[in-house]
Amino acid sequence: MIICMLALVSCRRDHNTTGWVYMPDMAYSEAAESYTPNPNFADSITMQVPPEGTIPKEMVPYRYPLDFDGQKQAGAELVSPVPMTGIHLMRGKEVYDIFCANCHGPEGRGDGHLYTGKLFTAKPTSLVDKYVQDKPAGEIYHVITLGSLSGLMGPHGAMISPQDRWKVVMYVKNRLSVNP
Ligand code: HEC
Repeated sequence: MIICMLALVSCRRDHNTTGWVYMPDMAYSEAAESYTPNPNFADSITMQVPPEGTIPKEMVPYRYPLDFDGQKQAGAELVSPVPMTGIHLMRGKEVYDIFCANCHGPEGRGDGHLYTGKLFTAKPTSLVDKYVQDKPAGEIYHVITLGSLSGLMGPHGAMISPQDRWKVVMYVKNRLSVNP
């Protein structure tokens, strides 16, 4: 009976108010905003650095080092989990056009506008030549993830998801034709 009465009085006829709030501290949480000071921590900063050795929940650590052997091993061991479909190829092109074409060129010939416009001085490798086309998919995946051995091409692992990296590899190996 009491519960019924409470249920009735908790609603107002006027739909512009929420009526009574029984546990306001739960309804309106006092979460600290990322960039506001926080008295609960010794350094007063809300956004604490994660404890050493921890990684984000869904992140899979990349275990091949940025050296010659690491790149070869990635080529020998890594297998794409992404099946070959038209949609994945299209996504590969999309990601390629955003992240690679400005250096490697729209057709992968090493003539992207950053290079031809002299904004980026290192010559990007042609992706259509045998040299890259003959590489195992895992090696290209490795280069996208960590960058080139010389460091002239930077890492893209933090910018492109693993799935999308494989789609770019698929696009490079299947749609950027080998030089005539
Ligand atoms: C800022 C310019 C730049 C961007 C962006 C870039 N690359 Fe490169 N890439 C280079 C340069 C320069 C080299 C040659 C590096 C070297 O010789 O060490 C290279 C080399 C490569 C190689 C050959 C590596 C090897 O082992 O010889 C591959 C494969 C490659 N890039 C693929 C890609 C793909 C795929 C993307 C997009 C995800 C990309 N690159 C984005 C500049 C770039």
